[in-house]
Amino acid sequence: MIYVAISVEKCYSLLQTCAEINSFVKKSVCEGDIIGMNNLILGSSGFIGRNLRKKLEQRKESVTLFDRFIDEDTRALYKNRCFCGEFSETTKFDEILEGVDRVYHLISTTIPSSNIPIVDEIRQNINPTIQLLESCVRNHVKDIIFVSSGGTVYGKTRMVPFREEDETDPICSYGIQKLMIEKYLYLYHHLYGLHYKVVRLANPYGPGQNPNGIQGAVTTFTYKAVADDLIKIYGNGKVVRDYIYIDDAIEGILNIADNKKYDVVNLGCGQGYDLIKVIQTLEDILDKKLHVEYSPGRKVDVPFNVLNIDRYNEISPHHRFDTLEEGIRKLIAYIMENK
Ligand SMILES: NC(=O)c1ccc[n+]([C@@H]2O[C@H](COP(=O)([O-])OP(=O)(O)OC[C@H]3O[C@@H](n4cnc5c(N)ncnc54)[C@H](O)[C@@H]3O)[C@@H](O)[C@H]2O)c1
Repeated sequence: MIYVAISVEKCYSLLQTCAEINSFVKKSVCEGDIIGMNNLILGSSGFIGRNLRKKLEQRKESVTLFDRFIDEDTRALYKNRCFCGEFSETTKFDEILEGVDRVYHLISTTIPSSNIPIVDEIRQNINPTIQLLESCVRNHVKDIIFVSSGGTVYGKTRMVPFREEDETDPICSYGIQKLMIEKYLYLYHHLYGLHYKVVRLANPYGPGQNPNGIQGAVTTFTYKAVADDLIKIYGNGKVVRDYIYIDDAIEGILNIADNKKYDVVNLGCGQGYDLIKVIQTLEDILDKKLHVEYSPGRKVDVPFNVLNIDRYNEISPHHRFDTLEEGIRKLIAYIMENK
C-alpha cells in the first residue's frame, strides 16, 4: 500500500520535469564532449538529483545515475552509466563505483515527518551507507558529497542562526540519521583518508519538487496558489524556515563540493521567513487572496530554523542568492509555462 503511494508520487514528480531535463541532457550526452570528473549521483531521479544532473551536464562533466526509479528514455540514453535499483546492504557498489571520482549521496528513505519505525530508518539508510563507504575506499573514490539537513540536525538549540559548530540535538529521527552519516564520513576519513563534504542544506524549493509532497511548503503553496486550491498550514503559520531556490542550492552544493577549507558547511540563504510571510508574498505577486486553513502543529517541526552561512560566504563570496520573492516569481513563471 505504502509502496504504491510513493510510486505514484514519484511518477508525478518525474513526469513533471523529466521531459525538459531529458531533452537538455540528451543533447549534451549525444553531443559527447565530456570532460572532467566522473560523478555518481545516488538519488538521481529526485528533486535535487535531477537538477544536479542537469547542472553537471552543463559543465560537461560525466554523470552516472543510480535510483530505484529511472525512466526508459534515461536508461536508454545513459546505458552502462545508469543503475536502476534499491539502495540497500546488498547493492553491488563495487560495480557502480568503477571509474567514479566523486559520489553525490542524495538518498534518504525518510523525511522529518516520516512515521516509520526507527530501526527501519537506520536499516534503510545507515547500513547501505556504510557499505557504500567501504566500497568508496576499495575503489579509490576521490570524495563523497553528502546532503545532510540544516533544518533538522540542530534541533531546538538556543542560539539562532545556527552555526556549523553549534550543538546538535535533533528532535526527529531523520535528523539523527543524517548526523550518524556525517559522523561515519568523518570516521572513514580518519581511518582511510576518504575525503568528504557535508552540505547542511536548508529548505530548497522550485521546479522539479513534487508539488503534492509532504516536504516543500513554498513549492506546494505556490502550485496551490496558482490553481486557487486550499492551502493547509500545520500550526499557526509562525514556524520560521530558511528557504533557498533550487538553482542556488545546486550552485551551493557544487561550490561546497569543490571547496578545500571546510568539510561541513551550512547552505541556506541565512534569512528566516514564517509561513504567513510566504502566503503574503504569494498574495502580493499573484494579486489575489489565497484560501488558507490552519491545522494542529507537528511535534517534529522545530519552531525556528535559520542557518548561519558565514562559512559558505567565505568559500563562495560572489554567490548572490535569489530572495524569496525572486524565487517564487521564477517558480510561478515555470508553472505557467508548463501548464
Ligand atoms: N528537499 C529538501 O527539502 C531537503 C532538505 C535538506 C536535505 N535534503 C536531502 O537531500 C537529499 C535529496 O533530497 P530530494 O529532495 O531530492 O529527495 P527526493 O525524494 O526528491 O529524491 C530522492 C531520490 O532517492 C531515491 N530513493 C529513495 N530511497 C531509495 C532507495 N532505497 N533506493 C534507491 N533509490 C532511492 C528516490 O527514488 C528519489 O528519486 C535527501 O537525502 C534529503 O534528505 C532534502
